[in-house]
Amino acid sequence: MLVSVSILSCNNKEAAVRNLNFSSADYLHIDFMDGKFTKKKSLKIKEIREISKYSVKKLDVHLMVTKPKKYIKKLAEVNASYMTFHIEAGGKKTKDYLNLIKSYEIKAGLAISPNTSIDILEEYIEDVDIILLMSVHPGAGGQEFLEETPKRLQELKTLCQEHNVSPLISVDGGINDKTMNLVKDVDMIVAGSYVTKSKEYEQNIQSIKNITK
Ligand code: DX5
Ligand code: ZN
Repeated sequence: MLVSVSILSCNNKEAAVRNLNFSSADYLHIDFMDGKFTKKKSLKIKEIREISKYSVKKLDVHLMVTKPKKYIKKLAEVNASYMTFHIEAGGKKTKDYLNLIKSYEIKAGLAISPNTSIDILEEYIEDVDIILLMSVHPGAGGQEFLEETPKRLQELKTLCQEHNVSPLISVDGGINDKTMNLVKDVDMIVAGSYVTKSKEYEQNIQSIKNITK
């Protein structure tokens, strides 16, 4: 299982990133919020650029914004392996934005909020490298895992099978020692507070990595 660690809930983000440098986390999950798509704002572009300089881990950028194009361009140089924006924000330009991300040689994908029907991903399922299935409402770390997530995950898997595609499936929000077992058949788990609020980052990262399907 791939593990991407979110530092959204950390007060001292630099210390958290430096700690993660010594861990077996696969990616550093960066939650960027514009204060419009979500109520709160998080991290400034400048701060993300700084983080990317001292992070050994490659970035997994999650854009929670109403205007993806602007931020895709601004964050193209931060050593990201993955960049996702919300399907709720993409509108008619969704394919253009996916192509824009790919043009920077970053794997491109769509994030989907809990209240959005999985069906609407069908139009783009052959164009994405990654789907970020939200298991909490976007906007904050430390929320409770939504119980409908496993059912939504199965719907997403079925959709991929019907189209004979296998984008990387990542689940984001409310992951802990119990909920991780409900999403065993994803490729990547995003974990925030479960890792960063613990004393031993590595121990909790390992517990996710060791999930057997
Ligand atoms: C929520 C963010 C998540 C969040 C995960 O809007 O997209 O990445 O930080 O944090 P936890 O694991 O604490 O729910
Ligand atoms: Zn996220």
